[in-house]
Amino acid sequence: MRTITAAATPIRDLDVDVLAVGAFKGGIEGPGTAEALALLGLDDLPVTPAFRGDVGQVLRLAAPGQPFRSLVLVGLGRMDGISPAVLRRAAGDVARAAPAAGTIATTLAEVHPTRAAIEAVADGLALGSHVDRRFKGAGSPDAAGDEAGEGVLLLPSSLLREAEAAIERSAVTSAAVAFARELVNTPPGLKTPVDLAAAVADRAPAGVAVVSHDEGWLAERGCGGILGVARGAATPPRLVEMTYEPPNPLAHVVLAGKGITFDTGGLNLKPGAGMMTMKSDMGGAAAVAGAVIAAAQLGARVKVTGLLALAENAIGGDAQRPSDVITTFDGTTVEIINTDAEGRLALADAIGYGVSLEPDAIVDLATLTGAAVVALGPSIAGLMGDDDDLLDALALAAEDAGEPVWHLPLPEEYDRWLESPIADVDNLGRASGAGALVAGLFLRRFAGDVPWAHLDIAGPAFRSPEDAGGHQPEGGTGFGVTTLVHFLQAQGG
Ligand code: BES
Ligand code: MN
Ligand code: ZN
Repeated sequence: MRTITAAATPIRDLDVDVLAVGAFKGGIEGPGTAEALALLGLDDLPVTPAFRGDVGQVLRLAAPGQPFRSLVLVGLGRMDGISPAVLRRAAGDVARAAPAAGTIATTLAEVHPTRAAIEAVADGLALGSHVDRRFKGAGSPDAAGDEAGEGVLLLPSSLLREAEAAIERSAVTSAAVAFARELVNTPPGLKTPVDLAAAVADRAPAGVAVVSHDEGWLAERGCGGILGVARGAATPPRLVEMTYEPPNPLAHVVLAGKGITFDTGGLNLKPGAGMMTMKSDMGGAAAVAGAVIAAAQLGARVKVTGLLALAENAIGGDAQRPSDVITTFDGTTVEIINTDAEGRLALADAIGYGVSLEPDAIVDLATLTGAAVVALGPSIAGLMGDDDDLLDALALAAEDAGEPVWHLPLPEEYDRWLESPIADVDNLGRASGAGALVAGLFLRRFAGDVPWAHLDIAGPAFRSPEDAGGHQPEGGTGFGVTTLVHFLQAQGG
Protein backbone atom coordinates (compact mmCIF):
# COMPACT_ATOMS: atom_id res chain seq x y z
CA MET A 1 0.00 0.00 0.00
CA ARG A 2 1.31 3.40 -0.99
CA THR A 3 1.76 6.24 1.53
CA ILE A 4 -0.17 9.39 0.58
CA THR A 5 0.54 13.05 1.33
CA ALA A 6 -0.58 16.38 -0.12
CA ALA A 7 1.56 19.28 -1.35
CA ALA A 8 1.15 22.55 -3.21
CA THR A 9 4.29 22.05 -5.32
CA PRO A 10 4.10 23.54 -8.83
CA ILE A 11 4.55 20.96 -11.60
CA ARG A 12 7.80 22.48 -12.82
CA ASP A 13 9.35 22.10 -9.34
CA LEU A 14 8.55 18.39 -8.94
CA ASP A 15 11.14 15.64 -8.80
CA VAL A 16 9.06 12.45 -9.05
CA ASP A 17 8.89 9.21 -10.98
CA VAL A 18 5.42 9.79 -12.36
CA LEU A 19 3.14 12.75 -12.85
CA ALA A 20 -0.47 11.68 -13.43
CA VAL A 21 -2.97 14.09 -14.93
CA GLY A 22 -6.53 13.65 -16.11
CA ALA A 23 -8.21 13.93 -19.48
CA PHE A 24 -11.94 13.95 -20.09
CA LYS A 25 -13.65 12.32 -23.02
CA GLY A 26 -13.50 14.48 -26.13
CA GLY A 27 -9.97 15.74 -25.54
CA ILE A 28 -10.78 18.10 -22.66
CA GLU A 29 -7.80 18.52 -20.36
CA GLY A 30 -7.85 18.19 -16.59
CA PRO A 31 -5.94 20.48 -14.18
CA GLY A 32 -2.23 20.75 -15.01
CA THR A 33 -2.58 18.59 -18.11
CA ALA A 34 -1.77 21.35 -20.63
CA GLU A 35 1.24 22.44 -18.57
CA ALA A 36 2.57 18.90 -18.34
CA LEU A 37 2.08 18.27 -22.05
CA ALA A 38 3.78 21.58 -22.90
CA LEU A 39 6.88 20.43 -21.01
CA LEU A 40 6.95 17.44 -23.36
CA GLY A 41 6.58 19.76 -26.35
CA LEU A 42 2.97 18.72 -27.01
CA ASP A 43 0.28 21.31 -27.77
CA ASP A 44 -2.64 18.95 -27.50
CA LEU A 45 -3.73 15.71 -25.90
CA PRO A 46 -2.48 12.79 -27.96
CA VAL A 47 -5.95 11.36 -28.68
CA THR A 48 -5.73 7.86 -30.19
CA PRO A 49 -8.21 4.96 -30.33
CA ALA A 50 -6.39 3.53 -27.31
CA PHE A 51 -6.74 6.77 -25.39
CA ARG A 52 -9.87 8.85 -25.80
CA GLY A 53 -10.29 9.92 -22.21
CA ASP A 54 -12.63 7.05 -21.35
CA VAL A 55 -12.73 5.91 -17.73
CA GLY A 56 -10.15 3.16 -17.29
CA GLN A 57 -7.88 4.27 -20.14
CA VAL A 58 -4.29 5.09 -19.30
CA LEU A 59 -1.49 6.40 -21.52
CA ARG A 60 2.08 6.56 -20.24
CA LEU A 61 4.59 8.86 -21.97
CA ALA A 62 8.33 8.93 -21.25
CA ALA A 63 9.53 12.36 -20.10
CA PRO A 64 13.34 12.42 -20.19
CA GLY A 65 14.87 15.42 -18.50
CA GLN A 66 11.56 16.59 -16.98
CA PRO A 67 10.55 17.12 -13.32
CA PHE A 68 8.81 13.73 -13.73
CA ARG A 69 10.35 10.62 -15.35
CA SER A 70 7.07 9.80 -17.08
CA LEU A 71 3.68 11.35 -17.62
CA VAL A 72 0.58 9.22 -17.11
CA LEU A 73 -2.60 10.46 -18.74
CA VAL A 74 -5.69 8.89 -17.22
CA GLY A 75 -9.20 8.93 -18.68
CA LEU A 76 -11.97 10.50 -16.60
CA GLY A 77 -14.91 9.96 -18.95
CA ARG A 78 -17.53 12.64 -19.41
CA MET A 79 -16.99 15.87 -17.55
CA ASP A 80 -20.53 15.88 -16.12
CA GLY A 81 -20.09 12.31 -14.86
CA ILE A 82 -17.21 13.13 -12.54
CA SER A 83 -17.64 11.75 -9.01
CA PRO A 84 -15.50 10.48 -6.15
CA ALA A 85 -16.08 6.95 -7.50
CA VAL A 86 -14.68 7.85 -10.95
CA LEU A 87 -11.67 9.54 -9.36
CA ARG A 88 -10.98 6.58 -7.06
CA ARG A 89 -11.03 4.30 -10.05
CA ALA A 90 -8.80 6.59 -12.15
CA ALA A 91 -6.30 6.96 -9.30
CA GLY A 92 -6.24 3.17 -8.96
CA ASP A 93 -5.47 2.81 -12.66
CA VAL A 94 -2.64 5.34 -12.26
CA ALA A 95 -1.17 3.42 -9.31
CA ARG A 96 -1.01 0.26 -11.41
CA ALA A 97 0.56 2.06 -14.40
CA ALA A 98 3.41 3.37 -12.20
CA PRO A 99 6.47 1.53 -10.88
CA ALA A 100 5.61 -0.10 -7.54
CA ALA A 101 8.24 1.62 -5.45
CA GLY A 102 8.22 5.03 -7.13
CA THR A 103 6.64 8.35 -6.24
CA ILE A 104 3.51 9.43 -8.08
CA ALA A 105 2.40 13.05 -8.03
CA THR A 106 -1.07 13.75 -9.36
CA THR A 107 -3.41 16.63 -10.05
CA LEU A 108 -6.46 14.33 -9.91
CA ALA A 109 -7.57 15.65 -6.52
CA GLU A 110 -7.86 19.09 -8.11
CA VAL A 111 -10.38 17.89 -10.68
CA HIS A 112 -13.16 18.08 -8.11
CA PRO A 113 -11.63 19.36 -4.89
CA THR A 114 -14.24 18.26 -2.36
CA ARG A 115 -13.29 16.31 0.71
CA ALA A 116 -14.93 13.16 -0.64
CA ALA A 117 -13.08 13.42 -3.94
CA ILE A 118 -9.70 14.09 -2.30
CA GLU A 119 -10.27 11.04 -0.10
CA ALA A 120 -11.23 8.99 -3.15
CA VAL A 121 -8.01 9.87 -5.00
CA ALA A 122 -6.00 8.99 -1.90
CA ASP A 123 -7.84 5.63 -1.64
CA GLY A 124 -7.22 4.83 -5.29
CA LEU A 125 -3.49 5.64 -5.20
CA ALA A 126 -3.01 3.71 -1.95
CA LEU A 127 -4.96 0.62 -2.98
CA GLY A 128 -4.71 0.34 -6.77
CA SER A 129 -1.31 -1.32 -6.78
CA HIS A 130 -1.60 -3.12 -3.45
CA VAL A 131 -0.23 -6.60 -4.12
CA ASP A 132 -0.07 -9.57 -1.81
CA ARG A 133 3.44 -10.99 -1.94
CA ARG A 134 3.40 -12.93 1.32
CA PHE A 135 3.38 -16.26 -0.50
CA LYS A 136 6.01 -15.44 -3.12
CA GLY A 137 9.46 -16.92 -2.53
CA ALA A 138 12.23 -14.50 -1.63
CA GLY A 139 13.87 -14.94 -5.05
CA SER A 140 10.71 -14.19 -7.00
CA PRO A 141 10.87 -11.34 -9.53
CA ASP A 142 7.58 -10.16 -7.98
CA ALA A 143 9.25 -9.74 -4.61
CA ALA A 144 9.24 -5.90 -4.74
CA GLY A 145 5.94 -4.45 -3.54
CA ASP A 146 4.39 -1.03 -3.37
CA GLU A 147 5.01 -0.48 0.36
CA ALA A 148 7.88 1.81 -0.53
CA GLY A 149 5.79 3.75 -3.01
CA GLU A 150 4.49 7.23 -2.36
CA GLY A 151 1.63 9.29 -3.69
CA VAL A 152 1.47 13.07 -3.60
CA LEU A 153 -1.83 14.87 -4.15
CA LEU A 154 -1.08 18.24 -5.76
CA LEU A 155 -3.51 20.86 -4.47
CA PRO A 156 -3.64 24.62 -4.01
CA SER A 157 -2.27 25.52 -0.58
CA SER A 158 -5.73 26.72 0.52
CA LEU A 159 -6.94 23.09 0.35
CA LEU A 160 -4.06 21.39 2.15
CA ARG A 161 -5.81 21.51 5.52
CA GLU A 162 -8.99 19.94 4.18
CA ALA A 163 -6.85 17.38 2.38
CA GLU A 164 -5.11 16.35 5.57
CA ALA A 165 -8.34 15.14 7.18
CA ALA A 166 -9.38 13.35 4.01
CA ILE A 167 -5.99 11.67 3.68
CA GLU A 168 -6.07 10.56 7.29
CA ARG A 169 -9.44 8.84 6.91
CA SER A 170 -8.24 7.31 3.66
CA ALA A 171 -5.08 5.97 5.30
CA VAL A 172 -7.00 4.28 8.10
CA THR A 173 -9.67 2.90 5.77
CA SER A 174 -7.17 1.75 3.14
CA ALA A 175 -5.11 -0.10 5.74
CA ALA A 176 -8.29 -1.88 6.86
CA VAL A 177 -9.12 -2.73 3.23
CA ALA A 178 -5.60 -4.12 2.78
CA PHE A 179 -6.04 -6.21 5.94
CA ALA A 180 -9.34 -7.62 4.67
CA ARG A 181 -7.75 -8.38 1.29
CA GLU A 182 -4.90 -10.23 2.93
CA LEU A 183 -7.28 -12.33 5.01
CA VAL A 184 -9.16 -13.26 1.83
CA ASN A 185 -5.94 -14.03 -0.08
CA THR A 186 -4.56 -16.24 2.68
CA PRO A 187 -4.66 -19.91 1.60
CA PRO A 188 -7.51 -21.78 3.32
CA GLY A 189 -5.21 -24.22 5.13
CA LEU A 190 -3.61 -21.26 6.91
CA LYS A 191 -6.82 -19.56 7.97
CA THR A 192 -8.88 -22.02 9.95
CA PRO A 193 -11.53 -20.36 12.13
CA VAL A 194 -9.05 -20.51 15.03
CA ASP A 195 -6.32 -18.86 12.90
CA LEU A 196 -8.67 -16.16 11.66
CA ALA A 197 -9.87 -15.35 15.16
CA ALA A 198 -6.23 -14.97 16.24
CA ALA A 199 -5.35 -12.79 13.24
CA VAL A 200 -8.24 -10.44 14.03
CA ALA A 201 -7.38 -10.29 17.75
CA ASP A 202 -3.74 -9.50 16.85
CA ARG A 203 -4.71 -6.69 14.57
CA ALA A 204 -7.39 -5.07 16.71
CA PRO A 205 -6.38 -1.74 18.32
CA ALA A 206 -6.76 -1.06 22.05
CA GLY A 207 -10.30 0.27 21.69
CA VAL A 208 -11.65 -2.97 20.22
CA ALA A 209 -12.37 -5.94 22.50
CA VAL A 210 -12.15 -9.27 20.69
CA VAL A 211 -13.70 -12.42 22.15
CA SER A 212 -13.52 -15.70 20.27
CA HIS A 213 -16.46 -17.90 21.27
CA ASP A 214 -15.48 -21.56 20.90
CA GLU A 215 -17.49 -24.66 20.08
CA GLY A 216 -18.45 -25.16 23.75
CA TRP A 217 -19.93 -21.67 23.93
CA LEU A 218 -21.68 -22.21 20.59
CA ALA A 219 -23.18 -25.50 21.82
CA GLU A 220 -24.37 -23.93 25.10
CA ARG A 221 -26.10 -21.13 23.20
CA GLY A 222 -27.67 -23.46 20.69
CA CYS A 223 -25.82 -22.17 17.64
CA GLY A 224 -26.69 -25.22 15.53
CA GLY A 225 -26.16 -23.38 12.26
CA ILE A 226 -22.46 -22.64 12.71
CA LEU A 227 -21.91 -26.01 14.41
CA GLY A 228 -23.80 -27.85 11.67
CA VAL A 229 -21.66 -26.34 8.91
CA ALA A 230 -18.45 -27.12 10.81
CA ARG A 231 -19.34 -30.78 11.47
CA GLY A 232 -17.65 -32.01 8.33
CA ALA A 233 -14.41 -30.14 8.98
CA ALA A 234 -11.36 -31.15 11.00
CA THR A 235 -11.13 -27.63 12.41
CA PRO A 236 -13.68 -26.28 14.93
CA PRO A 237 -15.80 -23.17 14.28
CA ARG A 238 -15.66 -19.84 16.09
CA LEU A 239 -17.99 -16.90 16.56
CA VAL A 240 -15.75 -13.89 16.98
CA GLU A 241 -17.32 -10.93 18.76
CA MET A 242 -15.56 -7.59 18.29
CA THR A 243 -16.80 -4.65 20.33
CA TYR A 244 -16.01 -0.97 19.96
CA GLU A 245 -17.83 1.37 22.30
CA PRO A 246 -17.14 5.12 22.38
CA PRO A 247 -18.25 7.22 25.38
CA ASN A 248 -21.98 8.07 25.09
CA PRO A 249 -22.56 6.18 21.84
CA LEU A 250 -25.28 7.63 19.62
CA ALA A 251 -26.50 4.20 18.52
CA HIS A 252 -25.47 0.56 18.44
CA VAL A 253 -24.87 -1.17 15.11
CA VAL A 254 -24.22 -4.89 14.73
CA LEU A 255 -22.23 -6.00 11.70
CA ALA A 256 -22.35 -9.72 10.91
CA GLY A 257 -20.05 -11.38 8.40
CA LYS A 258 -20.14 -14.76 6.69
CA GLY A 259 -16.80 -16.37 7.44
CA ILE A 260 -16.64 -19.72 5.66
CA THR A 261 -12.89 -20.28 5.54
CA PHE A 262 -13.34 -22.72 2.67
CA ASP A 263 -16.55 -23.78 0.98
CA THR A 264 -16.29 -27.19 -0.66
CA GLY A 265 -20.09 -27.26 -0.80
CA GLY A 266 -20.12 -30.02 1.81
CA LEU A 267 -21.69 -33.34 0.78
CA ASN A 268 -23.39 -31.40 -2.03
CA LEU A 269 -19.85 -31.04 -3.30
CA LYS A 270 -19.02 -28.20 -5.68
CA PRO A 271 -17.44 -29.00 -9.05
CA GLY A 272 -13.74 -28.08 -9.30
CA ALA A 273 -14.11 -24.77 -11.11
CA GLY A 274 -16.75 -23.53 -8.69
CA MET A 275 -14.62 -24.49 -5.70
CA MET A 276 -11.47 -22.77 -6.94
CA THR A 277 -12.21 -19.32 -5.48
CA MET A 278 -13.91 -20.52 -2.30
CA LYS A 279 -11.13 -19.40 0.02
CA SER A 280 -12.86 -16.04 -0.50
CA ASP A 281 -16.04 -17.27 1.20
CA MET A 282 -15.00 -15.43 4.35
CA GLY A 283 -14.95 -12.08 2.53
CA GLY A 284 -17.94 -10.81 4.53
CA ALA A 285 -16.25 -11.57 7.86
CA ALA A 286 -13.01 -9.99 6.62
CA ALA A 287 -14.87 -6.81 5.64
CA VAL A 288 -16.61 -6.64 9.01
CA ALA A 289 -13.31 -7.12 10.87
CA GLY A 290 -11.64 -4.37 8.83
CA ALA A 291 -14.57 -2.01 9.30
CA VAL A 292 -14.76 -2.40 13.08
CA ILE A 293 -11.02 -1.78 13.38
CA ALA A 294 -11.13 1.32 11.14
CA ALA A 295 -14.26 2.70 12.84
CA ALA A 296 -12.50 2.47 16.20
CA GLN A 297 -9.33 4.09 14.89
CA LEU A 298 -11.39 6.94 13.47
CA GLY A 299 -13.37 7.39 16.69
CA ALA A 300 -16.83 6.66 15.26
CA ARG A 301 -19.63 7.95 17.50
CA VAL A 302 -21.63 4.70 17.44
CA LYS A 303 -21.08 1.48 19.30
CA VAL A 304 -20.21 -1.28 16.86
CA THR A 305 -20.35 -5.02 17.43
CA GLY A 306 -18.74 -7.14 14.75
CA LEU A 307 -19.78 -10.80 14.62
CA LEU A 308 -17.67 -13.11 12.49
CA ALA A 309 -19.34 -16.48 11.85
CA LEU A 310 -16.31 -18.66 11.14
CA ALA A 311 -16.52 -22.27 9.97
CA GLU A 312 -15.17 -24.51 7.24
CA ASN A 313 -17.67 -26.32 5.01
CA ALA A 314 -16.02 -29.68 4.36
CA ILE A 315 -16.94 -33.31 3.77
CA GLY A 316 -15.66 -35.33 6.75
CA GLY A 317 -17.48 -38.43 7.96
CA ASP A 318 -19.51 -36.40 10.43
CA ALA A 319 -20.58 -33.83 7.85
CA GLN A 320 -24.21 -32.75 7.97
CA ARG A 321 -26.37 -34.44 5.35
CA PRO A 322 -29.11 -33.21 3.07
CA SER A 323 -32.33 -33.87 5.08
CA ASP A 324 -30.63 -33.32 8.45
CA VAL A 325 -32.41 -30.84 10.73
CA ILE A 326 -30.51 -28.27 12.79
CA THR A 327 -31.70 -25.72 15.38
CA THR A 328 -30.39 -22.15 15.27
CA PHE A 329 -29.65 -19.72 18.13
CA ASP A 330 -33.22 -18.38 18.19
CA GLY A 331 -34.78 -21.88 18.26
CA THR A 332 -35.75 -22.05 14.58
CA THR A 333 -35.46 -25.56 13.11
CA VAL A 334 -33.96 -25.77 9.63
CA GLU A 335 -34.07 -28.71 7.24
CA ILE A 336 -30.83 -28.95 5.29
CA ILE A 337 -31.84 -29.44 1.66
CA ASN A 338 -28.46 -28.51 0.23
CA THR A 339 -25.27 -28.45 2.29
CA ASP A 340 -23.82 -25.87 -0.13
CA ALA A 341 -26.33 -23.29 1.14
CA GLU A 342 -24.22 -23.08 4.31
CA GLY A 343 -23.59 -19.36 4.65
CA ARG A 344 -27.16 -18.65 5.62
CA LEU A 345 -26.97 -21.28 8.39
CA ALA A 346 -23.90 -19.69 9.95
CA LEU A 347 -25.41 -16.22 9.57
CA ALA A 348 -28.72 -17.33 11.10
CA ASP A 349 -26.87 -17.82 14.38
CA ALA A 350 -24.82 -14.62 14.05
CA ILE A 351 -27.87 -12.51 13.21
CA GLY A 352 -29.95 -14.18 15.92
CA TYR A 353 -27.23 -13.57 18.49
CA GLY A 354 -26.92 -10.00 17.18
CA VAL A 355 -30.66 -9.47 17.81
CA SER A 356 -30.17 -10.62 21.42
CA LEU A 357 -27.78 -7.67 21.91
CA GLU A 358 -30.73 -5.33 21.16
CA PRO A 359 -28.95 -3.08 18.65
CA ASP A 360 -30.49 -0.26 16.61
CA ALA A 361 -29.55 -1.95 13.34
CA ILE A 362 -27.96 -5.10 11.95
CA VAL A 363 -26.07 -5.20 8.66
CA ASP A 364 -24.75 -8.49 7.34
CA LEU A 365 -22.19 -9.01 4.57
CA ALA A 366 -21.87 -12.35 2.86
CA THR A 367 -20.52 -14.03 -0.25
CA LEU A 368 -23.88 -15.73 -0.17
CA THR A 369 -25.08 -16.78 -3.61
CA GLY A 370 -23.87 -17.51 -7.12
CA ALA A 371 -27.23 -16.05 -8.15
CA ALA A 372 -26.06 -12.60 -7.04
CA VAL A 373 -23.04 -12.99 -9.34
CA VAL A 374 -25.32 -13.99 -12.22
CA ALA A 375 -27.58 -10.98 -11.60
CA LEU A 376 -24.98 -8.29 -10.91
CA GLY A 377 -21.60 -9.58 -12.10
CA PRO A 378 -18.19 -9.07 -10.55
CA SER A 379 -18.45 -5.39 -9.57
CA ILE A 380 -21.80 -4.91 -7.88
CA ALA A 381 -23.20 -6.19 -4.59
CA GLY A 382 -26.87 -6.91 -3.99
CA LEU A 383 -28.46 -4.85 -1.21
CA MET A 384 -31.56 -6.22 0.49
CA GLY A 385 -33.53 -5.30 3.56
CA ASP A 386 -36.78 -3.91 4.81
CA ASP A 387 -35.85 -0.63 6.47
CA ASP A 388 -35.78 2.21 3.94
CA ASP A 389 -33.67 4.55 6.07
CA LEU A 390 -31.03 1.89 6.63
CA LEU A 391 -31.01 0.93 2.94
CA ASP A 392 -30.69 4.58 1.89
CA ALA A 393 -27.83 5.19 4.33
CA LEU A 394 -25.97 2.11 3.07
CA ALA A 395 -26.55 2.95 -0.60
CA LEU A 396 -25.24 6.48 -0.02
CA ALA A 397 -22.17 5.21 1.83
CA ALA A 398 -21.50 2.66 -0.92
CA GLU A 399 -21.73 5.30 -3.64
CA ASP A 400 -19.29 7.49 -1.75
CA ALA A 401 -16.98 4.51 -1.22
CA GLY A 402 -16.89 3.54 -4.89
CA GLU A 403 -18.35 0.13 -4.01
CA PRO A 404 -21.44 -0.15 -6.17
CA VAL A 405 -24.52 -1.82 -4.70
CA TRP A 406 -27.92 -2.40 -6.24
CA HIS A 407 -31.15 -2.75 -4.36
CA LEU A 408 -32.82 -6.14 -4.82
CA PRO A 409 -36.33 -6.98 -3.57
CA LEU A 410 -37.45 -9.41 -0.86
CA PRO A 411 -40.67 -10.61 -2.50
CA GLU A 412 -43.21 -11.73 0.10
CA GLU A 413 -44.66 -14.28 -2.30
CA TYR A 414 -41.36 -16.17 -2.57
CA ASP A 415 -41.10 -16.59 1.18
CA ARG A 416 -43.25 -19.73 1.09
CA TRP A 417 -40.62 -21.40 -1.12
CA LEU A 418 -38.72 -21.85 2.12
CA GLU A 419 -41.43 -23.96 3.79
CA SER A 420 -40.29 -27.38 4.91
CA PRO A 421 -42.64 -30.32 5.55
CA ILE A 422 -40.58 -31.39 8.54
CA ALA A 423 -38.96 -28.26 10.04
CA ASP A 424 -39.75 -24.54 10.43
CA VAL A 425 -37.89 -23.66 7.26
CA ASP A 426 -35.68 -25.27 4.63
CA ASN A 427 -32.32 -23.83 3.62
CA LEU A 428 -32.74 -23.84 -0.15
CA GLY A 429 -36.03 -22.52 -1.43
CA ARG A 430 -36.17 -23.69 -5.02
CA ALA A 431 -33.14 -25.11 -6.73
CA SER A 432 -33.38 -22.40 -9.37
CA GLY A 433 -34.90 -18.96 -9.56
CA ALA A 434 -34.27 -15.83 -7.50
CA GLY A 435 -31.51 -17.49 -5.47
CA ALA A 436 -30.13 -14.24 -4.06
CA LEU A 437 -33.58 -13.07 -2.99
CA VAL A 438 -34.56 -16.36 -1.38
CA ALA A 439 -31.30 -16.32 0.58
CA GLY A 440 -32.19 -12.79 1.70
CA LEU A 441 -35.68 -13.94 2.71
CA PHE A 442 -34.13 -16.78 4.71
CA LEU A 443 -31.87 -14.37 6.63
CA ARG A 444 -34.73 -11.94 7.27
CA ARG A 445 -36.43 -14.55 9.43
CA PHE A 446 -33.64 -14.24 11.99
CA ALA A 447 -33.53 -10.45 12.23
CA GLY A 448 -36.75 -10.16 14.25
CA ASP A 449 -37.87 -6.55 14.65
CA VAL A 450 -34.41 -5.04 14.36
CA PRO A 451 -33.87 -2.87 11.25
CA TRP A 452 -31.73 -5.16 9.09
CA ALA A 453 -29.91 -5.00 5.77
CA HIS A 454 -28.01 -7.64 3.85
CA LEU A 455 -25.23 -7.18 1.29
CA ASP A 456 -24.60 -10.16 -0.97
CA ILE A 457 -20.97 -9.55 -2.00
CA ALA A 458 -20.45 -12.88 -3.82
CA GLY A 459 -19.43 -11.02 -7.01
CA PRO A 460 -17.18 -8.20 -5.80
CA ALA A 461 -15.38 -9.87 -2.86
CA PHE A 462 -12.86 -11.57 -5.12
CA ARG A 463 -11.68 -10.59 -8.60
CA SER A 464 -10.32 -12.67 -11.42
CA PRO A 465 -7.36 -11.13 -13.30
CA GLU A 466 -9.70 -10.14 -16.17
CA ASP A 467 -11.93 -8.19 -13.82
CA ALA A 468 -9.17 -6.36 -11.94
CA GLY A 469 -9.27 -2.62 -12.44
CA GLY A 470 -9.39 0.76 -10.78
CA HIS A 471 -8.55 0.51 -7.10
CA GLN A 472 -9.39 -3.21 -7.03
CA PRO A 473 -6.62 -5.61 -8.00
CA GLU A 474 -7.09 -9.31 -8.66
CA GLY A 475 -7.80 -11.55 -5.69
CA GLY A 476 -9.40 -10.32 -2.48
CA THR A 477 -10.79 -6.79 -2.84
CA GLY A 478 -11.80 -5.91 0.70
CA PHE A 479 -15.16 -4.92 -0.76
CA GLY A 480 -17.47 -3.53 1.91
CA VAL A 481 -14.89 -2.15 4.34
CA THR A 482 -15.03 1.39 2.94
CA THR A 483 -18.82 1.36 2.65
CA LEU A 484 -19.21 0.22 6.25
CA VAL A 485 -16.72 2.76 7.58
CA HIS A 486 -18.43 5.62 5.75
CA PHE A 487 -21.82 4.32 6.91
CA LEU A 488 -20.72 4.07 10.55
CA GLN A 489 -19.19 7.53 10.50
CA ALA A 490 -22.37 9.00 9.03
CA GLN A 491 -24.47 7.47 11.83
CA GLY A 492 -25.27 10.14 14.37
CA GLY A 493 -22.99 12.72 12.70
N1 BES B 1 -20.24 -19.38 -1.25
C1 BES B 1 -21.26 -19.74 -2.14
C2 BES B 1 -21.73 -18.59 -3.02
C3 BES B 1 -20.75 -18.06 -4.02
C4 BES B 1 -20.73 -18.52 -5.31
C5 BES B 1 -19.88 -17.05 -3.69
C6 BES B 1 -19.85 -18.02 -6.24
C7 BES B 1 -18.98 -16.53 -4.60
C8 BES B 1 -18.97 -17.00 -5.89
C9 BES B 1 -22.47 -20.24 -1.35
O1 BES B 1 -22.20 -20.87 -0.16
C10 BES B 1 -23.16 -21.23 -2.20
O2 BES B 1 -22.60 -22.25 -2.47
N2 BES B 1 -24.36 -20.90 -2.62
C11 BES B 1 -25.14 -21.78 -3.44
C12 BES B 1 -26.54 -21.75 -2.90
C13 BES B 1 -27.43 -22.79 -3.47
C14 BES B 1 -27.01 -24.17 -3.05
C15 BES B 1 -28.82 -22.48 -3.00
C16 BES B 1 -25.09 -21.24 -4.86
O3 BES B 1 -25.12 -20.04 -5.04
O4 BES B 1 -25.00 -22.06 -5.77
MN1 MN C 1 -21.83 -22.94 -0.40
ZN1 ZN D 1 -20.47 -20.35 0.77
